[in-house]
Amino acid sequence: AAEPDLEDFQRIIDADSRVEPRDRMPEGYRKTLVRQIAQHAHSEIIGMQPEGAWISRAPSLRRKAILMAKVQDEAGHGLYLYAAAETLGADRAELLDMLHDGRQKYSSIFNYPTLTWADIGTIGWLVDGAAIVNQVPLCRCSYGPYARAMIRVCKEESFHQRQGFEILHTLSHGTEAQKAMAQDAVDRWWWPSLMMFGPSDDQSPNSAQSMAWGIKRFSNDELRQRFVDMTVPQAEALGLTLPDPDLAWNEERGHYDFGEIDFSELFEVIKGNGPCNAERMAHRVRAHEQGAWARDAAVAYADKHAARRAE
Ligand code: ACO
Repeated sequence: AAEPDLEDFQRIIDADSRVEPRDRMPEGYRKTLVRQIAQHAHSEIIGMQPEGAWISRAPSLRRKAILMAKVQDEAGHGLYLYAAAETLGADRAELLDMLHDGRQKYSSIFNYPTLTWADIGTIGWLVDGAAIVNQVPLCRCSYGPYARAMIRVCKEESFHQRQGFEILHTLSHGTEAQKAMAQDAVDRWWWPSLMMFGPSDDQSPNSAQSMAWGIKRFSNDELRQRFVDMTVPQAEALGLTLPDPDLAWNEERGHYDFGEIDFSELFEVIKGNGPCNAERMAHRVRAHEQGAWARDAAVAYADKHAARRAE
């Protein structure tokens, strides 16, 4: 039963309406949201790195302009999400400190290297594709500011997914070497993309409570299955194979069966032992330190104007 002063909160959840910043909410609800939204925001800004690495090497001016816009979009997503976390009383500078000293996480997927141009296509197709499957239900999250931020994020992610698919389509219909490069990238990103959805349901400590609160609408495994079902026909359209011999349509279930995921890899990457964790964090901390002058200047400017208004 809800605590007496939280009856209104429970009514909102039961009616499937939105909780707004002014509403009373259980401390656990607030904390869970800050954790998830901050982790999501951190993922967006760390996610700029693997793709940013290819802006100077994109194969044409058109590809360069598109990739630059895409990486900028990711920065924008980070900003909407930090703003959503602030509506819960979180302090943005503190959230960044928690990212930098490892108290908060970011998505495992951004700890893998982008070795070739085909990786940029594959990130758009698989990683942004997985992000959409995970995030479309978040547009109906019980917390209003997070749900509303997700609407625009999802629209932009859909565009990112299409551009990734188009890069891979071009490569897979190009020379033998280009097709091989596309296949190699898909081989490397497929399993990590499945891991993005988190541990299996029986190993997901937060799921039950987050679903009861309407923060999560589907379980990690449900969304993972949805992603596999959506992606297999797309791989066929590209003429590329997914690196899983157990992948097969299951008529009875009405879903694709797929092979066992090596979750020990996910847990290692989350712990900080992925191929690029150290590099990503070092780059982020360096960028933050080098940007201190810009933050200081913004504060000085705001103070000056506040003082002038007060005169
Ligand atoms: N990478 C890093 N950490 C992860 C991942 C992952 N792929 N999946 C799960 N975890 C962490 C969880 O954060 C949790 O740790 P914590 O309690 O210390 O925070 C732990 O593993 C156990 O997982 P769950 O109990 O399943 O956690 P949760 O209910 O939060 O579900 C999920 C995880 C599905 C990622 C959820 O947080 C979510 O939907 N987040 C919003 C989407 C998001 O962050 N996307 C970022 C990548 S997409 C992009 O930016 C392009």
